[in-house]
Amino acid sequence: MRILLLFASLALANCHEVKTVYSWSNVEYNFPVTVNPDTLTSDGEYIPENNVPLGMEVWEDKIFITVPRWKNGVASNLNYISKNDTSVESPKLTPYPSWEINYINTPNGIVSIFRVKVDSCDRLWGVDTGIDDILGTTRQVRPVRIFVIDLKTDKILRIYPLKSTDQVSNSFFADSVVDADPDNCENSHLYISDLSGYGLVVYSWAKNDSWRISHNFFHFDPLHGNFNISGFNFQWQDGIFGMSLSAPQSDGYKTLYFHAMAGVTEFSVSTEVLQDSTLKKSSSYDAFRVEGDKGPLTQGPTSVIDAGTGINYFTQVSKNGIACWDTSLELNPNTFILAAQDNTTMIFPNDLSIDRPTNTLYVLSDNLPQHIFSHMDTKKHNFFVTAVNLDSLTQTCKKQDLKLKRRLPHIL
Ligand SMILES: *[C@@H]1O[C@H](CO)[C@@H](O)[C@H](O)[C@H]1NC(C)=O
Ligand SMILES: *[C@@H]1O[C@H](CO)[C@@H](O)[C@H](O)[C@H]1NC(C)=O
Ligand SMILES: *[C@@H]1O[C@H](CO)[C@@H](O)[C@H](O)[C@H]1NC(C)=O
Ligand SMILES: *[C@@H]1O[C@H](CO)[C@@H](O)[C@H](O)[C@H]1NC(C)=O
Repeated sequence: MRILLLFASLALANCHEVKTVYSWSNVEYNFPVTVNPDTLTSDGEYIPENNVPLGMEVWEDKIFITVPRWKNGVASNLNYISKNDTSVESPKLTPYPSWEINYINTPNGIVSIFRVKVDSCDRLWGVDTGIDDILGTTRQVRPVRIFVIDLKTDKILRIYPLKSTDQVSNSFFADSVVDADPDNCENSHLYISDLSGYGLVVYSWAKNDSWRISHNFFHFDPLHGNFNISGFNFQWQDGIFGMSLSAPQSDGYKTLYFHAMAGVTEFSVSTEVLQDSTLKKSSSYDAFRVEGDKGPLTQGPTSVIDAGTGINYFTQVSKNGIACWDTSLELNPNTFILAAQDNTTMIFPNDLSIDRPTNTLYVLSDNLPQHIFSHMDTKKHNFFVTAVNLDSLTQTCKKQDLKLKRRLPHIL
């Protein structure tokens, strides 16, 4: 009993206060003057309670927010809010790069991107699933396509449809990570996880080509697919989902860490293996490694590495919080630390983004199971953007270093 109490107080001591930056009960949009929101509503093109934010990426003074088309009536999928909006609790979302491109009836427009990533060349990358009303009629409005947008000019640089060989019949792409070299922007790759087809798709910007990789580690773990969140009990079979990239290693390549949504094990692979379009390197089973076990109830979609410290941050949907792991240590339940928790503002933490200039970790939480299995209660605040300073988080995540043996470096 005394040991239990000691652990409980240690766990609390680890936890950091999170600051709420923005929160919403319903999201609203800055529509262009030519668009009347009442007309959109009467046409069924804007049903406010069906607009649930999910993905978030911070770049300069913009915070990009995606609103996937889970149900009908999502007005605009890809949007931003301005960091300048400091006096507003629930800022309206501004469609990006324009309202027209996000309007569901625009030919060739953006349909439903889940998460976006910004690279070191100021480009925004997102994979459009092309599906409207996922939980209802599930219409594949347009093919699965990669969008790349120049953040300096707000122009679409490239639209690339995934090839049929990149997909299987039940593919679904909800997360990706971009690997770019600021000194050579041509040499860029996007790694896209296929959470229900259990694969990884690689896109090369230089080759303007893509290929699909398979491995047993991309599947879900049947022992960790049972969830209790917001009073809902449900089972998911989502495989490879959240991915994070290390800083470049001595050979110039990075390590891609990845995990299944329904799973508690973290895996890794060198980007050298992924970038081999002949699939020769990825056909070697041992090119993929088991990093370790994160412990019970550590499932979550997204992760991101702080390149400055090598600390990997993870959303924790069963704990309403954020965990961290110092990647220079062996991964096990003792080195996987719950660093922040809030049972009001971090229900279903769904995306993470690091803002380098302010050294801040941003978290978007959206209580997604409530939306999927019921509907949002528009009388209370449902969506939260919270922030934690990385200086203090780093200390929590590093503090066990002295006690725990450093692991041997990988032999690449
Ligand atoms: C924020 O304010 C600055 C200074 O007024 C302005 O230049 C910038 O465009 C604003 N950013 C956004 C995203 O509105
Ligand atoms: C890239 O490939 C796609 C699909 O094959 C094509 O539509 C597009 O024009 C290509 N883009 C460039 C820049 O080559
Ligand atoms: C979920 O809740 C049920 C009922 O309270 C409990 O029996 C079960 O162990 C819980 N499962 C998980 C994975 O927490
Ligand atoms: C928050 O929720 C978690 C998971 O349900 C629970 O373990 C924890 O005790 C709660 N914390 C507080 C302060 O209520």
